[in-house]
Amino acid sequence: MFTTNPFYQELSENYLFAEIARKVDACRRTEPEAKIIRLGIGDVTLPLAPAVIAALHRAVDEMAAAETFRGYGPEQGYDFLLEAIREHDYLRRGIAIAADEIFVSDGSKCDVANIQELFGSNCRIAICDPVYPVYRDSNLMAGRSAQLQYLPCVEANGFLPEPPRTPVDVIYLCSPNNPTGAVFSREQLTEWVAYARRVRALLLFDSAYEAYIRDPALPRSIYEIPGAEEVAIEFRSFSKTAGFTGLRCAYCVVPRALPGRLNALWRRRQTTKFNGVSYPVQRAAEAVYSEPGQRQIAAQIDYYLNNAREIRTGLLAAGMTVFGGEHSPYVWWKLPVAMSSMAFFDQLLHECHVVGTPGSGFGDCGEGYFRLTGFGSCDATREAVKRITDRYLQ
Ligand code: MLT
Repeated sequence: MFTTNPFYQELSENYLFAEIARKVDACRRTEPEAKIIRLGIGDVTLPLAPAVIAALHRAVDEMAAAETFRGYGPEQGYDFLLEAIREHDYLRRGIAIAADEIFVSDGSKCDVANIQELFGSNCRIAICDPVYPVYRDSNLMAGRSAQLQYLPCVEANGFLPEPPRTPVDVIYLCSPNNPTGAVFSREQLTEWVAYARRVRALLLFDSAYEAYIRDPALPRSIYEIPGAEEVAIEFRSFSKTAGFTGLRCAYCVVPRALPGRLNALWRRRQTTKFNGVSYPVQRAAEAVYSEPGQRQIAAQIDYYLNNAREIRTGLLAAGMTVFGGEHSPYVWWKLPVAMSSMAFFDQLLHECHVVGTPGSGFGDCGEGYFRLTGFGSCDATREAVKRITDRYLQ
């Protein structure tokens, strides 16, 4: 008889967003007339950009002809996409990344969950609190609950973590931050890189929301900080940048300068466990970097940022306390009433028919807060702000 992985006992019963979906489905069944507005999971709502759709159609046609059909592709990604990423996301910003340091995947969620396989079971891991739950859960599954250290991100530190006081080996950072929307300044990120170099720690830098940064003074890549290529892995995604949540494409950068031959180990891991992203999807991702593609996705990001701004300004005008929502699609709202964030989730769902995410789902320090996203439609977002402010006007 098999045994099961005992470390799964350490996990909460359901994954945060699965639990929220379950509650929303239950509400829909009991209140079928309700017009529910979903500002919970950070899922995009605009259709894919025309340049992306055109590339997808072309690639599908190629798959239909014997001369252009493709079977298995390179596990790391096709050269055309690696080159486009290298050129547009790095070289044009003065960052030298080689194509063989970029690994295309089917999502940052998988990458940030899988990367911990490269580390010893005794590695000491630091994560923020609140945090994107995947960093925590993937390390719990691997049996590292005793080695997990939480870095509080609270109002007093601007929701940005400070380096740990006790030694750690690996630190997950996310900027613009999910869930709080906080963004590292260049000085703060420089301090983190200096810290990692000093204590020989590895930074896992999740910049899935970098496209939402509109202030050129704020860093979009950790490799803008000199020396980061010796201490940091970076994760990027087409999901929130170009609306690929349903198409699935992302990449991570694992520099060869990192200690421990991490670049070679990650290649070894990916070639064993992953067969690459489909050809049409990689062509679609390539099209994101075309001139029309860049223009079209910039308009989409503006649209979501505008929604986030409407939430932020609407709640502020009603006397509430909110953070984020400026260089981020996420608004971090301090609860306007004294109750747990999970109880507030239920109240907002049943009384306003608005879905958000309870802060406690991201960690203990998230209690007392609630996350709303700018990824809804413009009209639905406005309507949600109206329902919320009518209900909770201070
Ligand atoms: C979120 O809502 O935090 C994100 O959509 C989750 C994800 O990207 O996997």
